[in-house]
Amino acid sequence: MTDLTTWFFFATCIYITSNSCKVLSKFNKNIYRSIMSFTLQVLIFSSLPFILALLVLKSYLSSSKHHKNLPPSPPKLPLIGNLHQLGSSPHRALQAMAQTYGPLILLRLGSVPVLVASSVEAAREIMKTHDLTFANRPFLNIPNKIFYASQDIAFSQYGEYWRQVKSIAVLHLLSNKRVQSYRHVRDEETLRMMETIQKAEGSVVNLSELLVSLTNNIICRVALGKRHDGRKFKKLLQQTMELLGCFSVGSYIPSLRWVDRLSGLEKNANAVVKEFDEFLEGVIDEHVNNKAVDVEGRDLVDVILEIQRDNVTGFHLERDMVKAIVLDVFTGGTDTSSTSLEWAIAELLGHPHAMKKLQQEALEIGQGRSMISEDDLENMPYLKAVLKETLRLHTPLPLLVPRESTRDIKLLGYDIPSGTRVLVNAWAIARDPTIWEAPDEFRPERFLNSSIDYKGFHFEFLPFGAGRRGCPGIQFAVVVNELVLANLVYKFNLALMGEKGLDMSETSGITVHLKCPILVSATPVCS
Ligand code: HEM
Repeated sequence: MTDLTTWFFFATCIYITSNSCKVLSKFNKNIYRSIMSFTLQVLIFSSLPFILALLVLKSYLSSSKHHKNLPPSPPKLPLIGNLHQLGSSPHRALQAMAQTYGPLILLRLGSVPVLVASSVEAAREIMKTHDLTFANRPFLNIPNKIFYASQDIAFSQYGEYWRQVKSIAVLHLLSNKRVQSYRHVRDEETLRMMETIQKAEGSVVNLSELLVSLTNNIICRVALGKRHDGRKFKKLLQQTMELLGCFSVGSYIPSLRWVDRLSGLEKNANAVVKEFDEFLEGVIDEHVNNKAVDVEGRDLVDVILEIQRDNVTGFHLERDMVKAIVLDVFTGGTDTSSTSLEWAIAELLGHPHAMKKLQQEALEIGQGRSMISEDDLENMPYLKAVLKETLRLHTPLPLLVPRESTRDIKLLGYDIPSGTRVLVNAWAIARDPTIWEAPDEFRPERFLNSSIDYKGFHFEFLPFGAGRRGCPGIQFAVVVNELVLANLVYKFNLALMGEKGLDMSETSGITVHLKCPILVSATPVCS
């Protein structure tokens, strides 16, 4: 606008000058030249204050309007912005950036402005003080495909629909009472895994694979009423998780969406979505036809279908919405739990002292019984500390789930425009040396006499997020993890196979796994 004004002013000057000159050119050329030069001088000098005033106005307007006090940004490349700086471990790359640029960084990933928060204060501002402003989720290509146009809980836009489906999760699917009601499923599946290990009789046990099967089986039985432990379903679930962690060019540079088509990502996503949809259609048909289920034997699909029939939400819960919610339970509840168990065992194998201490606690509590029960868990502080320390060091979703601001807002003195995507680097905050002593070391003891927990009130420890968008599955996840880990160390002495220690490298993706499976020999503990 101010640029236009300046140019308009110059153009007018030149026009006036040239027109007056044309008239004068009929007279003497010399007189014409001197008049022309005189006119120019007069015009330039008389308009100088005006030009200066315009320039000052221009710089004022652009500094207040375009150059707000934005958070610092690392230099970016044309088109891709800062995308090339994320590497294969974005949480680590962003931690390094925060050390240079501070706790709030504004990146441009393709054409998308992305705010990265890497300190307790920044996380608290986003997830508590201004939680409402940051309660939206951004539109993401692949999740949108997977979750029936983002009609699930985790990726749906903030608003009445999200409020209704989140309350279905909190009040009906993952409530205290409901989680308790599936205790027998957890017991049976844990026992089943232990029998599998026992049968291996000293030969190599792939614990990573067993833990994935265990969490899949628990979720399948709780959500669908029966196990689906064939290879086909396991692969489908794995492909879905991989897709969620995939980088989609179109989500960041819409004009290059064709790259996703060319690379086969879209085709692959469509195929997986179609296969999962056929599976879920079969599950729903089965549940609709099998009406006579007693209250005790109800699984989560029964509960959702009942909510649909009774119109609890105040609007008709469409079939796609039901499928999207069921899918959320799978994607939210399987991978995250198995990966935290995997990391806990990996750390214990690398810290024999901690393993011994935990085993001691389990043996004292178990007192020779066949299994540690859920009632025992309350009296196992070291077990709880081990799992907390694992979630701190190996936050399963290191960058949580992206959020988006819905209005312009000031954050720690910076201006954050509406529509900015937000990543909270919970992993980096959990390793901040100004908060945690020896932050990179596995020290469960730090949680023994500490009130810090993971429920979203301590912003230095956010494995499940916080605020409105916080995880509704905490209780469900924690009881599985505690029960399984307690029984594993209660029943078995685990020893790594091979001479070398365990490779602790991470995979990339939405959840961070161990790159290599945990292969152990498991000998029964003599209690
Ligand atoms: C160790 C296990 C788990 C971890 C680490 C975990 C972590 C998270 C995180 C970080 C978020 C995003 C929070 C935020 O944006 O502030 C989230 C959201 C969510 N989680 Fe979990 N989760 C786990 C287990 C579960 C389980 C067992 C379920 C369900 C059975 C579940 C269902 C969900 C859902 C539905 C959301 C979306 C909430 C929303 O957007 O309103 N999670 N989880």
